[in-house]
Amino acid sequence: MTTIGSLCSGLGGLDLAAVDVFGGQLAWWADIDPAAVTVMTAYHPHAPNLGDVRTVEWQNVPPVDVLCAGYPCQPFSHAGRRRGTEDPRHLWPWIARAVRVLRPRVIVLENVAGHLKRGAGDVFADLAEGGYLFAWAVVSAGDVGAPHVRRRLFVVAADTARDVPRGRLVGGPPGRAQPSDGDITLGGGLDWGKYTDAVRGWEHALGRVAPVPSFETDRGTHLLTAPFVEWLMGLAPGYVADMPGLSRAQKLRLLGNGVVPQQAALALRLLLPQLASAQPA
Ligand SMILES: C[S@@+](CC[C@H](N)C(=O)[O-])C[C@H]1O[C@@H](n2cnc3c(N)ncnc32)[C@H](O)[C@@H]1O
Repeated sequence: MTTIGSLCSGLGGLDLAAVDVFGGQLAWWADIDPAAVTVMTAYHPHAPNLGDVRTVEWQNVPPVDVLCAGYPCQPFSHAGRRRGTEDPRHLWPWIARAVRVLRPRVIVLENVAGHLKRGAGDVFADLAEGGYLFAWAVVSAGDVGAPHVRRRLFVVAADTARDVPRGRLVGGPPGRAQPSDGDITLGGGLDWGKYTDAVRGWEHALGRVAPVPSFETDRGTHLLTAPFVEWLMGLAPGYVADMPGLSRAQKLRLLGNGVVPQQAALALRLLLPQLASAQPA
């Protein structure tokens, strides 16, 4: 069975895509955020949390077939100050250290698209130097029919000394799902105005109605609901929103930092054949 290791796991969206494409299950994962630890422990009770990626002794960790890492995007994000590789939150060097010891067959990386302008060059150089063939793509959540843009860089690398695994190249609908015989009717009775088509498209792709997007506080302000953000992220109902012990703020932060699994799976399905065809004979 394919073994998957996950670094900077968050809610595990990138890992869900890896399981979808490669099969198998998580052998271990690593995160330091209490909310991420709660969610990952709930869904992967048999896989240990290795904790801080900067302090793991990789020679004591079982190697895996696939290593996933959606490392923090703040150093490269437009929303942050973009200090890039000088930012102490820049974790690629620590992930590269894990790669050198574990030598996974496949590496799957995710970050904001801005990483291409700052930092990705170091990643590509380290991968090439380590004997990995790699391909990258910027894929948006909108490319799988989600009603938001969320441009993300995905990098897939394969050890040139071994065959590139093909993975399951056919999966869920890469774009907006078309009801096969036109008899699926969804609709929650909310008026989405100019967003109606976008919302209906994602409802059809996921097969579930969009949850109520906001609620009104005592002060009359409107705040986003966690179930709605979870739906935007393409996750199963309640995956994060119903997790006991997490505040609304923790849920929203985890979801906001997360990966849309369908988006990552599309990236993998676009990139794996490129690697297979580029592999030296
Ligand atoms: C962009 S989010 C990851 C999203 C995630 N890959 C997904 O699929 O949903 C980055 C994660 O890195 C975690 N992180 C930050 N510093 C870390 C460290 N030193 N060791 C392990 N995880 C860390 C954060 O807690 C956060 O959950």
